[in-house]
Amino acid sequence: MDKKVRDLMNDQINKELYSAYLYLDFANYFEARGLDGFANWYKIQAQEERDHALLFYQYLQNNSEKVELEAIAKPDVVLESDLGVLNAGLTHELYVTSLINDIYAAAYDVKDFRAMQFLDWFVKEQGEEEENANDLISKMELFGGDSKGLYMLNSELAARVYNTPSLVL
Ligand SMILES: [Fe+2]
Ligand SMILES: [Fe+2]
Repeated sequence: MDKKVRDLMNDQINKELYSAYLYLDFANYFEARGLDGFANWYKIQAQEERDHALLFYQYLQNNSEKVELEAIAKPDVVLESDLGVLNAGLTHELYVTSLINDIYAAAYDVKDFRAMQFLDWFVKEQGEEEENANDLISKMELFGGDSKGLYMLNSELAARVYNTPSLVL
């Protein structure tokens, strides 16, 4: 593999594991608030992020590239309000989208069609992640203002279940 594409994918393993760590921190915030549904939603999101990390890990291994695992940073988002946490989630996903786009651009530059095909899944996934983050914010703004609405929203998010990723390597 091209060194730049390889290095960016190797970094992405760390970024996805950091995302998992960040969302576990979000879940921790909501657990302490007594909002177990929101906590459940972010715990499942953390599982998805771990899956993303493992896909990059497996892709590099499948292509005979050496994986180098680095230290995972401490979550650095200040969690001050429910809506603030949801907004931080959207900001983070927009950042992750930019990372995926950067890897795609590097693969495109060297005509690494296999990498581009692999990354197509992540391009679509990031569209979904941004949509999910936006939905949470909209629902919170619409219904989270009173305790009954917040209770209903929390119950909805409690129903989220983990699904294995549709991409298998
Ligand atoms: Fe991810
Ligand atoms: Fe997802």
